Amino acid sequence: MSAPFTLAPLPWNEKALEPVISARTISFHYHKHHQGYVDTLNKLVEKTRFADMKLEEIVQATAGASDAKEKKIFNNAAQVWNHDFYWRSLTPSKTEPGGKLASAIARDFGEVSRLIAALAEAGQNQFGSGWAWLVSRDGKLAVEKTADAQTPMAKGINCLLAMDVWEHAYYLDYQNARPKYLEAVLGKILNWDYAAENLGRQDQAVLAAAE
Ligand SMILES: [Fe+2]
Repeated sequence: MSAPFTLAPLPWNEKALEPVISARTISFHYHKHHQGYVDTLNKLVEKTRFADMKLEEIVQATAGASDAKEKKIFNNAAQVWNHDFYWRSLTPSKTEPGGKLASAIARDFGEVSRLIAALAEAGQNQFGSGWAWLVSRDGKLAVEKTADAQTPMAKGINCLLAMDVWEHAYYLDYQNARPKYLEAVLGKILNWDYAAENLGRQDQAVLAAAE
């Protein structure tokens, strides 16, 4: 997908994550914030070298830019990508880590509860706006946090799950209680199938490179 970018559909209906995340929060978050990043990105890339690039390419090409306009392009492109990833990291269906993902969690965290605790800690300790991530790098699972629009994907790191800790993600439902939002989301609506799919995609890339 290159410009003009469009707002990708949500993978569930807006009420589906209640009571963990209300339809009101999803509505503002998706139709105002996420849509806003899409619209701003389209205006910024018009008639630039970025107009024909895919979203991921724009994020990687502008990461760490010193030019003011390229910084704005990075912020909006990364936020479009991060939000698409965040929506897919959540599901109203009950999922559990299985197969290779379960083995990787056992190897690198011991137990799923320790991975969840690490994600909660990363989200709580991210000062100000940002993100907590489950990633796979150098053959190991790891938890990372990033500020503002920053994303591990900009450095080519394989992301498995994203957690939005900007206030707009939880303020209507939890006010300033970010830990309560994290506890509810991480304990009830994480999409482990999506994490497994992302981990599997990396295996496919490794196999293709070895051929
Ligand atoms: Fe957000």
